[in-house]
Amino acid sequence: MATAPSFLFALLAVCTAISTAAGMATAPTNTTGFVSCLTVHIPPGIVYTQASDSYPSVLDFSIKNLRFVTPATPTPLVIIKATNASHVQAAVRCGVAHGVRVRPRSGGHDYEGLSYRSIDAACPFSVVDLAALRAIRVDVKRKSAWVDSGATLGELYYGIANKSARLGFPGGIGPTVGVGGHFSGGGFGLMMRKHGLAADHVVDAVVVDAEGRLLDRAGMGEDHFWAIRGGGGGSFGIVMSWKLQLVRVPATVTVFTVHRPRNRSASDLLTKWQHVAPALPRDVILRVVVQNQEAQFESLYLGRRTGIVTTMARMFPELGVTREDCIEMSWIESVLYFAFYGTGKPAALLLDRGTKPDRYFKAKSDFVHQPIPRHAWESTWSWFLKDGAGLLILDPYGGQMGGVAPSATPFPHRRALYNLQYYGFWWDNGTEASEQHMGWIRDLHQEMEPYVSKNPRGAYVNYRDLDLGVNDDYCSSGADNGYVKARAWGEPYFNANFERLTAVKAMVDPRDFFRNEQSIPPLR
Ligand code: FDA
Repeated sequence: MATAPSFLFALLAVCTAISTAAGMATAPTNTTGFVSCLTVHIPPGIVYTQASDSYPSVLDFSIKNLRFVTPATPTPLVIIKATNASHVQAAVRCGVAHGVRVRPRSGGHDYEGLSYRSIDAACPFSVVDLAALRAIRVDVKRKSAWVDSGATLGELYYGIANKSARLGFPGGIGPTVGVGGHFSGGGFGLMMRKHGLAADHVVDAVVVDAEGRLLDRAGMGEDHFWAIRGGGGGSFGIVMSWKLQLVRVPATVTVFTVHRPRNRSASDLLTKWQHVAPALPRDVILRVVVQNQEAQFESLYLGRRTGIVTTMARMFPELGVTREDCIEMSWIESVLYFAFYGTGKPAALLLDRGTKPDRYFKAKSDFVHQPIPRHAWESTWSWFLKDGAGLLILDPYGGQMGGVAPSATPFPHRRALYNLQYYGFWWDNGTEASEQHMGWIRDLHQEMEPYVSKNPRGAYVNYRDLDLGVNDDYCSSGADNGYVKARAWGEPYFNANFERLTAVKAMVDPRDFFRNEQSIPPLR
């Protein structure tokens, strides 16, 4: 009895100290002071306030979703278009001193636009845009490369292929996706079954931390280095550049795309695909895009045509892939083939990062561990895919994806059969269209619940989804119960790794300076 009050007293003292620390998360917001501080440390030509003539074009440059191009979208107070690391360091230090949070933007592809918008207009923030920091230095002899975060995947693949036709990198498909956000969330693409995630091949990095220091792997320490390779962008500092271990690619790879309509055999094929695709040899990936009333099977094989034709005949004869379906090419041509659907496209297309968004979209994701029964595919086709409202993308795992421990990086979904992405898109402006299409994808996601991972139902952090939840009061100091709230999205994205991420966050950013609607809160 006698110990209880003193224990409580001690606990209270600790809590007070912690909440005081939390209360110091950022200084009171002083936007004028922030801008003055920037002008002392950063050349004025690269600081864009909302009053600058070029602000709209700088902001819009890498926005990829029309959903966030509206007059009502809360946008940054200031955009700093950094041209060297010292600008990023100064932005962080000025932000900490004057209570203005800084969000990094690399390629701007965040599905919820969190690299350039907030959901609360009362929440001033700034953006450090890294698009001008995109150097790529390839060391062919050591099979390694340093790439700056502002480079796109297309620029990276182009840069590697330019130096060696026998080296490649296992990242995502979209050529305009930024390296900074992509690696931060793991990053998977067509070579993942052979080589795993993009983040698995990061061997060093340089980051600007919450105190504005520039740290490499040795300087940041292994926990911090673990967290930036899949723990999601925007929580653990601003990664300036990444050192990559490149992979060997054969001189010739083979691709095919075959379409199978629903009224022929697509439901049967899809049902069987779930057993076959994760079990194929790791040199092959066979993904599926389901849209309208057909399934499109797309494959990359790291070898010659004869090999894939034989493998398909042996393991998936029902798909009916013929020699004529298969096209041999170099690895970089296969990158172009999947990015732009076709052959004979110039490699320089991979350098075009200025593509403008042409649609509104909303996406969600799941991980599937047990094959989904045929009747569920039939019903999805009948109810959800009948009028071109959206599509499904099925990316099979297995191979090297399953060969890495779920705790080796923050990305925990290594043992899934496949990732299932739901993608709804529309072209009409206005609330009615938006509500209809957002409703469509939410209903479809709900409908699939019985068939996908559970406790928690998984999701991929690089397919960010604010429906999972958002931080309370995310624009001010981190709330003391932030951890409990953040489990709603932290566990779906990171499973058991979520807790370690919050502990790392407490270590590297205890004041929660790098905070957005779905950032990792510090474990209090
Ligand atoms: P953006 O700049 O918007 O950043 C995303 C998040 O990371 C934000 O929170 C941002 O603040 C933070 N961030 C950005 N730069 C950072 C840095 N340097 N340091 C720390 N944090 C940083 N995924 C996949 O795995 N495989 C694929 O094939 C594809 N394909 C694809 C195609 C298309 C058209 C889109 C729109 C998206 C994909 N993706 C994908 C998803 C993609 O990997 C994901 O959206 C990435 O986070 C995008 O990175 P960006 O740098 O472009 O985004």
